[in-house]
Amino acid sequence: MKLRDLLSSRVRQAMSVAAIPSDCQPMVAPSKGPQFGDYQANGAMAAAKRMKTNPRELATKIVDALQLDDIAAKVEIAGPGFINIHLKPAWLARELHTTLDDERLGIDPVEKPQTVVVDYSAPNLAKEMHVGHLRSTIIGDALARLLEFQGHRVIRQNHVGDWGTQFGMLITHLQDKMDAEGGKVPKLSDLETFYREAKVRFDQEPEFAQRARDNVVKLQAGDTTCLGYWRTFIEISVAHSEEIYRKLNVTLTHDDIKPESAYNDALPGVIKTLQQQGLAVEDQGAQVVFLDELADKEGNPLPVIVQKSGGGYLYATTDLAAVDYRCHQLNADRVLYFIDARQSLHMKQVFAVSRKAGFATDQVSLEHHPFGTMMGEDGKPFKTRSGGTVKLAELLDEAIVRAEALLADKASDLTAEEQKDAARKIGIGAVKYADLAKTRTNDYIFSWDSMLSFEGNTAPYLQYAYTRIQSIFRKARIDGDSLTGAIALDETAEQALALKLLQFEEQLDQVARDALPHLLCTYLYELSSLFMKFYEQCPILRSDIATQVRDSRLRLCQATARTLAQGLELLGIEVMDRM
Ligand code: ARG
Repeated sequence: MKLRDLLSSRVRQAMSVAAIPSDCQPMVAPSKGPQFGDYQANGAMAAAKRMKTNPRELATKIVDALQLDDIAAKVEIAGPGFINIHLKPAWLARELHTTLDDERLGIDPVEKPQTVVVDYSAPNLAKEMHVGHLRSTIIGDALARLLEFQGHRVIRQNHVGDWGTQFGMLITHLQDKMDAEGGKVPKLSDLETFYREAKVRFDQEPEFAQRARDNVVKLQAGDTTCLGYWRTFIEISVAHSEEIYRKLNVTLTHDDIKPESAYNDALPGVIKTLQQQGLAVEDQGAQVVFLDELADKEGNPLPVIVQKSGGGYLYATTDLAAVDYRCHQLNADRVLYFIDARQSLHMKQVFAVSRKAGFATDQVSLEHHPFGTMMGEDGKPFKTRSGGTVKLAELLDEAIVRAEALLADKASDLTAEEQKDAARKIGIGAVKYADLAKTRTNDYIFSWDSMLSFEGNTAPYLQYAYTRIQSIFRKARIDGDSLTGAIALDETAEQALALKLLQFEEQLDQVARDALPHLLCTYLYELSSLFMKFYEQCPILRSDIATQVRDSRLRLCQATARTLAQGLELLGIEVMDRM
């Protein structure tokens, strides 16, 4: 149920009765404070301006025509023409009751499902996954989960980098190792070391460097021996990424991998299309598209190289082929790219060329959703003490170890196994949530202490709120899922909590539209805080509390727990019954 949409449509009807032009918006939004009611309709001011009339008078006309008797207890006009709507607690209670009858908390799948391609994670397979891949992986996965939950057809695309000149050096090194081991595939438990070894040899052994270069040519020409080594290497690297996805509770699977190399055969066609349309022209031996729409201040069009003078293709060429595939084979309505803000210009170029050349369909929405950099507490990009890149695998292990230590400090009745499970959920949840809760486009500071705190806008705080509710159910000796009693909202704290619970669906819409998961985090945090307030002010299991009141309050607990668990699941974060 979307409160906001419901109120908007009622206000719209009233505006039409008041003879306001139909393109004037009702502008309904949650109120900024309880003194302004639960929702505000602020459209009277803009409409009055358009109609050159007095806004307060116009607001009065709207209110006179407004039919909200079933929903609202009071509708008031404030200031220059704000319409404040106070909802009826009994109506809120009934609505909440209905949402609880539904497994999906009353959230219907969208009427018009779209095909949405989500491009995320996409590490380069030459190296081990490092913290630079964390944001794309976590944020992209949250959006993929959410869009799927809303009923869209989500196609995950893990556009991994598995092609390019570095692979010559890597497969040559692998070849030598395997030759030395009689053909046995070495265990590359540490891809980073393997990469470094290959690089050192490439820089120091001219004979190795020559073979590596020859192997690049052979690989690109489809030489089966070289391709065999390359595949072996890629498999090991993919297995490494998949282990990280499992640890991170990220939904990407093997089938979602659509590597750069998958587009190799399409690249000559991309160039040909661009040439035929007169978009790509030769410039110093290279094929270049000049974009007027991205010209500099002097009006010089921006050159985008799509083929190097030696005939080699570029990162952008592959992305053009990928747009074509996503639009014409996958029939995407939306393509979401979760890539570092530093690639913004690259994405602009790819989108502009795709539109001109028709790789993109007219109706597709191509969206780059950039994000900032993860910083260390020193305010510089996050590095190890010695200045190296932080491996994702090690970072996640550390998160779990730190969460274990936290739990060990608490008096708990968990078995060793339960404690281990809880530590994993808390540690991984903390890392993910700390990222998701920040406005995506900003840089953010990675801080163990703040992300693992049980206070503030953190995963442990939300997980704790959830376990707190479960412990109430245990104390009451009831199964929280099976509650069905009536809900009554007599206290202000109960009303505020119920209203927030009913706003879950409209919040999800905004997160999905703008690809901003931090809005969902803020929502869940506010929900937990309202719950804590309710819990303090409204005793539940105290012996002097009437059964009916107690049961109604337990229902509010149930609604909060279910909304928290659902919201966190959409973010890819797990809850637990005890901690
Ligand atoms: N592999 C690239 C990198 O690590 C990211 C790829 C993102 N996706 C894309 N379609 N360009 O920078």
